[in-house]
Order: sequence, then structure tokens, then C-alpha cells
Amino acid sequence: MTADAQSDLIERRKAALAPAYQLFYDDPVHLVSGSGVWVHDADGRRYLDCYNNVPSVGHCHPRVVAALAGQAALLNTHTRYLHGNVVELAERLGASLAGDLSVCFFVCSGTEAVDLAVEIARVATGAQGVVVTESSYHGNTSLVSKLSTDGYPATDRPDWLGVIEPPNTYRGPFRVATSTDATTSTDTADAVPVGERYAGLLAVEIEALARRGNDPAALLVDTSWDSNGVLTAPDGYVERIAEITRAAGGLVIADEVQAGYCRLGDHFWGHDRYGLIPDIVTIGKPMGAGHPVAAVVTTPEIAATFAERRSYFNTFGGNPVSAAVALAVLDVIDDENLLDNSTDTGTYLGGLLRELATRHEVIGNVQGSGLFWGLDLVADRATRTPMSYDDGRRLATALRHDGILIGLTGRYSNVLKIRPPLVFGREHVDELIATLDSRLAAFELHGGDSRRRPGAEW
Ligand SMILES: Cc1ncc(COP(=O)(O)O)c(C=O)c1O
Repeated sequence: MTADAQSDLIERRKAALAPAYQLFYDDPVHLVSGSGVWVHDADGRRYLDCYNNVPSVGHCHPRVVAALAGQAALLNTHTRYLHGNVVELAERLGASLAGDLSVCFFVCSGTEAVDLAVEIARVATGAQGVVVTESSYHGNTSLVSKLSTDGYPATDRPDWLGVIEPPNTYRGPFRVATSTDATTSTDTADAVPVGERYAGLLAVEIEALARRGNDPAALLVDTSWDSNGVLTAPDGYVERIAEITRAAGGLVIADEVQAGYCRLGDHFWGHDRYGLIPDIVTIGKPMGAGHPVAAVVTTPEIAATFAERRSYFNTFGGNPVSAAVALAVLDVIDDENLLDNSTDTGTYLGGLLRELATRHEVIGNVQGSGLFWGLDLVADRATRTPMSYDDGRRLATALRHDGILIGLTGRYSNVLKIRPPLVFGREHVDELIATLDSRLAAFELHGGDSRRRPGAEW
């Protein structure tokens, strides 16, 4: 594609799409095809996709494409007619979840799933309050955008919203020493374990909610803490926040839109990593490998209470084509052992990222697991000052020119986010690490503002 044709398309897009839309990179990537962990632009250049979890089983997986095309050629209706696909899908999701989590609602996006989950929790508890983390992202309906604290000023928060610090032991209020510290001068000396200290913040926030006249209907937690920089919770934290929530009459909603589907390695679901059995689970992105299918799973008891007060129908949610796609994704995960791949390749990747941190001062911390890692980039390791937003963008852009698609996340958009399709192998890890190594060796800090710009694409 000529430079003129590319500029023309950008201009047409600007005119025809709402200005709230963003494109990654000042010089956007124009993708036209994909296969496995690779995507190709209009000039035939290929990029290693280290960013996209939505094509969970790889871009354009032939079995997913065949399932979609096959069912689309046969029939597509909705859930008010009897069809086997949606029933089988609900059964398989239920079987993958612990405890009594066995009944499903089907929707079309993660946002819709979170919106419905919160409504279910409110109906089931009779309370209105919801607690989320600072800098959370859970979606964008008028309700859910309020739960996405990264997108609007704290002064606009509704009374029913409680907000807690995420358990970021590198950057948050309670810290532990990391392998990149010169000294271990953090406050680990405190007798109370760090997980307990973070959990204590929830108890304080629930009291604050009560003073504003609200009891908690739900704690909404993304167990990968993606928008907080990709975190692993300290010991005891998740169990404790669940206990505190339930003691106050609330339900625990695990937002598995990011953490689910083998992403964190070792377990299919993020909450399983912590031995948590939530009351409600929301599922999205990876579920359809690119096709818009999402779900809410809860217990028969909670679903029955909801049904006493509400009926539910979603025109596209759970249609036979979407369900066929979602079933094919589950089949591929099983048949290609993608949970094992996430665990094994993820361990290999994590080891090499930690080694990279020994060579590059800008890597303040390596955090994550499975095929979800964050490099917390710093301007100064000793003070843990985040790398500026401009520097982070320059680095991600340079990597794009090196043929690596990668993102930024976290409160300061200074965490390089590595979250590739689950078919990422060791050869892809080697390519990513070699490119990061040479790019970081050549990278110079220019400084600038370390606050994320409103409306920034990362
Ligand atoms: C944790 C989490 N929940 C919910 C959502 C919303 O999903 P969707 O964009 O499909 O509406 C996102 C999207 O990034 C997310 O990261």
C-alpha cells in the first residue's frame, strides 16, 4: 500500500468514526491477515503478536474458522429456540468451574457480562455498593464505565462505588523487595503480612461505603490486575478479600475477561490460582478467539433469585454460531494442550525476562505468570520512578518497527504488557527476548510526564 493510500484511509477513518476512537501508534499498523502468533500488514510485513489475547488459540485458527463457517451456513437464530450448541457450551463452562458455578447467561462482550454480573449481585443481595481497584478497567456501559476507574476523574465517582489500592507490592503502599533492588529497604519488616495489609484496605473501604449509606453488593476483581500493571497477589490476599466481602453481605465477582482461558498458566481460570470460588464469573475476550461471545456464570441459587425478579434475553448472546465458535475454542485448548503451553512457555518467558532485567536498568520489576507478563519500566530504579509516558510510547513504537506488537498498561502506562496468543512457543519467546534486548540496549530515556494522558490509546 502506498503512503498516500494509507494516509487517505486514516483520513477517511477520522471523518467516519467517532473521534473517541484511538489508533495504536502515530504511524498506525494496517493489518490485513493473521495466522497463529503472526499478523501481516498491507505491505506483506509480518509482526510477532505479543499483545493480543483475543485470538486466544491463534489468529484465524482453522478449526475455529471451520466451526464458524459451518454453523453460519446451516443456521443462526437465538436462544429462544432449542439448540444443542448453547446447552453444550454452558455445560462445558460449568464443568470447568469449581463449586456450584454451573449456570450461564450469554452476552456479546466483556462489558455486557460485567454489567449483568453487577445487576445480578445487586438483585441477589439487595445492596447497591460495588468495590473495584484504582485504575481498573471493566468496560464501558454507563454503569460499567463507573467501575472503570482509570477512565474518569476520582471526583466523579458515585457514592455507591468503593475503590481500593490493587495489591501492587512493587509500586503500591505496601512493598516488598525485588530482585532488581540494590538494597532490601522496603517495609517488609512490618509484622503483618503484606497480603493482609492490602486486604485491610478493603475493610476500611467497606466502612466508608457504609458511612455513605451503601452496603456492598459485590467486590469486582480481575485476578490478573491487567490495568494495574499485571500483578500476582501476595499470599493470603485473595482469600481475605473474599472473606471480608462476604462478611459484609456482598458477592465476589471474578472478572475473568483477561485472566481466564489459561492466560496465567497452571489453571484454566485466574481465580483458581488463589483457590477462590467466586459467586459470579464474567468471561469475554478469549472465549471466541476473535468472535464476539461472552458469558456470566453463577450458582443455581443466585440465578434463581435473579429470575424471581428479572427475565433475561439477549438477541445475539449464545446464538448457535457464537456457541459453535466458543466450543471450537475449548476443543482447541484441550487438543493442543494450551494450558500446558501457557504454563511451560510462560515459565520460560518469565525466566528470560528476569534475566533481561539484570542487563537493563529500565526494567524495575518483572511481574506476571503464564503468558501474561508486565515489565514495570522505570526512569530510576532506586526510587522506582515510572518511565515517562512518552518514553514508554517511544519504546513500544520502536518495537513495532522491529516487528513486535506489544502494549503498555498500568496507572502510569509504564508497564510493557506481554500477552500473546496461547500458541506462543519458545521460538517466539526467543525472538521477543532478542529484540527486546537489542532495543533496550539502544534505548535512551528522554523523560517527560509520567501521567497517562486522558484518552490515550494505552
Ligand atoms: C478485565 C476486563 N473486563 C472487562 C472488559 C470489557 O470487555 P469488552 O471490551 O469485551 O467489553 C475488559 C476489556 O478490556 C477487561 O480488560
